[in-house]
Amino acid sequence: LVYRGYNIHDLAQNASFEETCYLLLHGALPTRDQLEWFERDLRFARAIPPTVIDIIDHVKAAHPMDILRTAVSATVALDESSHEATGEVALPVARRLIAQVATIVATMHRLRAGLDPVPPRHDLTHAANFLYMMFGTEPSPEHAKIIDLDLVLHAEHSSNASTFAARVAAGTAADIGSAIVAAIATLKGPLHGGAAEAVQKTVEEIGDPERAVAYIKERIEAGEKVMGFGHRVYKTDDPRAKELRGVARDLGHKMGNDRWFQILQEIERAMEPYRPKGIYPNVDFYAGAVYSLLGIPEEQFIPMFAVGRMPGWA
Ligand code: COA
Repeated sequence: LVYRGYNIHDLAQNASFEETCYLLLHGALPTRDQLEWFERDLRFARAIPPTVIDIIDHVKAAHPMDILRTAVSATVALDESSHEATGEVALPVARRLIAQVATIVATMHRLRAGLDPVPPRHDLTHAANFLYMMFGTEPSPEHAKIIDLDLVLHAEHSSNASTFAARVAAGTAADIGSAIVAAIATLKGPLHGGAAEAVQKTVEEIGDPERAVAYIKERIEAGEKVMGFGHRVYKTDDPRAKELRGVARDLGHKMGNDRWFQILQEIERAMEPYRPKGIYPNVDFYAGAVYSLLGIPEEQFIPMFAVGRMPGWA
């Protein structure tokens, strides 16, 4: 997996989400000055219009991806400077939407939980501010770093289904906001964005590592697909799963929950016979456990994917 010529493992180890966004939007990593300007631009674009907060409140009982799609659509409809379909207009809109989608997701989470939205802060990174807006307290640097890594890993994946949908919309000379809305609509499908949530549900249903192998065998024999496995492109280890495997293990250990990781390992073991078919764990396999350990509810997993994929779509 390569973003603009950089191997994903290099970016995962060395680049922040903001640097990755710059790389994807501009085609090269930023200099120190360019990064400073870019980060500042993102930080001051975080707030969403009060009308959008009201709209989220009105539709908060809907599926989180329907809320996200509606809120992004309203955000671009209210932004009169975003409607022209040119690169000059699209770039600043892309920066604003990258910043605002994180705020929309956190706002929807707060309103659904019956809590007041937490306004964004300007002094935190994109990842740290996202956790701050979700939970109302400043996250530890370690947790912010994990979300930063997760966003980098989700940032781009060439012409996957949602990006393809965005390209179809953009190819008709629709504006970038419309293209992003098409992408969000497509990400909602359980075969694309929904797998992390399904994996975490499976882990919780299995409950005990010793039950994992029998559970998976039953699912396969019933002709069901095992969520978090298989990929249209990778017929080998998904490089993003490799990165998240260690994070899930270490975070679980630190938080006194080794059980979820053990269950995931047992599921992997049960799926080993399917490797010759090219069925390996994908990015979603470990992401769900990481999100759950950080306190992000399952219903927000697909919106989290959208927060990460924004620069790729843009
Ligand atoms: N569990 C069990 N069997 C699977 C499987 C899974 N997750 N994914 C694929 N297979 C099987 C297929 O049924 C097919 O079997 P067959 O040869 O007997 O017909 C074989 O493995 C090859 O499938 P393949 O062509 O490689 O998959 P695909 O390209 O049609 O589908 C996905 C790719 C992602 C849609 C599919 O793997 C899937 O639905 N995975 C679960 C959902 C998921 O995790 N999505 C997130 C993707 S990042």
